[in-house]
Amino acid sequence: MPEIISLNQISKTYERKIALSSLSFSVNKGESIALIGPSGAGKTTLLNIMASILTPDEGEIFIDGSPLSDFKDQRKRAKKIGVIRQQFDLVGELPVIHNVLAGRLSDWGVFKSLLSFLIPQDKQYAVKALERVGLMDKLYDRTSILSGGEQQRVALARLLVQNPEIILADEPVASLDPARAEDILDLLANIAVEEKQTLMASLHSVEYAKKYFDRIIALKNGEIFFDLPAASVTDAHIASLYKLKEQA
Ligand SMILES: Nc1ncnc2c1ncn2[C@@H]1O[C@H](COP(=O)(O)OP(=O)(O)O)[C@@H](O)[C@H]1O
Ligand SMILES: [Mg+2]
Repeated sequence: MPEIISLNQISKTYERKIALSSLSFSVNKGESIALIGPSGAGKTTLLNIMASILTPDEGEIFIDGSPLSDFKDQRKRAKKIGVIRQQFDLVGELPVIHNVLAGRLSDWGVFKSLLSFLIPQDKQYAVKALERVGLMDKLYDRTSILSGGEQQRVALARLLVQNPEIILADEPVASLDPARAEDILDLLANIAVEEKQTLMASLHSVEYAKKYFDRIIALKNGEIFFDLPAASVTDAHIASLYKLKEQA
């Protein structure tokens, strides 16, 4: 499998706090990676840098061999990289279908995008996506009345409509109860496989990381603590990752 993402010595410091320290790794097309590590390890900072939300102080990122800065244009970037978050980023006042169609904004001209808030365009895309996530009956419901799990399904449907090559997910299930969380992770992992997408998601749960992902990158203090196939991660690895202080 060819390489799709390459990070070369990425560093980021907030005032005096080092969030990422010379981080390097690469990702092959179609890999699914869970990013784990204690609070403050740098997971969100890393995902935000990869999504161009933050700029690193040092280092380079290549997507399909081109520097990330080549994807400044939002439409061009949206075809490559899609983002999903803990707080779904949906417009609660709008019907479900409008939120799903927002995934197509990158393909539309400005006029059509504005019009879409009055007349849902390309409805078939949204219908298909909502079918896939099991929300066909909620097409015209106001998004804010849906449960947390349903709202995250709407966000997944929007991602299906966007259909980026890479999905970056920051704690996508942190606000859901365990049953709902597993539903969403199962769906996300399946979508990524079926659409041949590359997936990278930060997670609190080591159990879910091992169950739904192929590879686990553990961060601690802004550095890679381990980077292993999910099946090779042992309880001892996890215990030392989350240990508060190194023993003398
Ligand atoms: N905007 C910010 N200003 C100052 N420090 C920050 C900011 N965002 C994150 N940090 C610090 O950077 C480190 C990494 O944070 P973060 O990437 O959010 O970690 P994680 O997502 O793994 O919990 C932490 O020590 C955090 O306190
Ligand atoms: Mg975080």
